[in-house]
Amino acid sequence: MINPTLDLLLNRRSVVAANMTEPGPTSEELELILRAGIRVPDHGKLAPWRIKILYKPGQKKLGEQLAEVYQKNNPNANQAVIEREQLRPQRAPILLVIAAFLQAECKIPLLEQRLSGGAVCQNILTATHSLGYVGQWLTEWPTYDPEVKQALGFGDQEEIIGFLYLGTAKEPPKPRKRAELDDVVQVWE
Ligand SMILES: Cc1cc2nc3c(=O)[nH]c(=O)nc-3n(C[C@H](O)[C@H](O)[C@H](O)COP(=O)(O)O)c2cc1C
Repeated sequence: MINPTLDLLLNRRSVVAANMTEPGPTSEELELILRAGIRVPDHGKLAPWRIKILYKPGQKKLGEQLAEVYQKNNPNANQAVIEREQLRPQRAPILLVIAAFLQAECKIPLLEQRLSGGAVCQNILTATHSLGYVGQWLTEWPTYDPEVKQALGFGDQEEIIGFLYLGTAKEPPKPRKRAELDDVVQVWE
């Protein structure tokens, strides 16, 4: 091991939400994860992010709403597909919905505000992994659906950037092919 931090960063691996089970982080652990989550670079100290925690009751309610929206937009969908939508947010013990909270009338570019939200997501994944749990950052269609956004209570200033599923891995994930450093890094002179 080089050091525990690098070891964690070099070995963190997402586990697909469908392969997660109980337990999820305890409330004390979740608080630590969220504290680490929002300790990110934040140009202008805007705190341009908002987070909703969905435990099982919230997940069930969101599932009903997803099924309703999906059925409305896909009137020919069969029952199995509708049921899958209902279960979509219920795949892991804890679901976090992360939104960028954007301030348009501000000298900090919107891109930078969104990127800070991406850093929140990544920090949450890393902190979750550090405690022996696993996470997956998914967008999927609900991220981009205005009715889902409204159902979750997000306003005009907010933009969902991810659904983070947290839990325990049912089985270790298989290795994933990684980009080669030489393909993505160049010395510029
Ligand atoms: C913004 C963002 C959105 C993502 N959305 C999805 C998604 O909707 N479906 C999916 O299968 N993977 C999605 N992924 C990929 C997974 O989060 C994850 O990166 C992938 O499973 C590889 O795992 P790794 O973290 O071990 O590299 C998304 C990743 C990012 C950064």
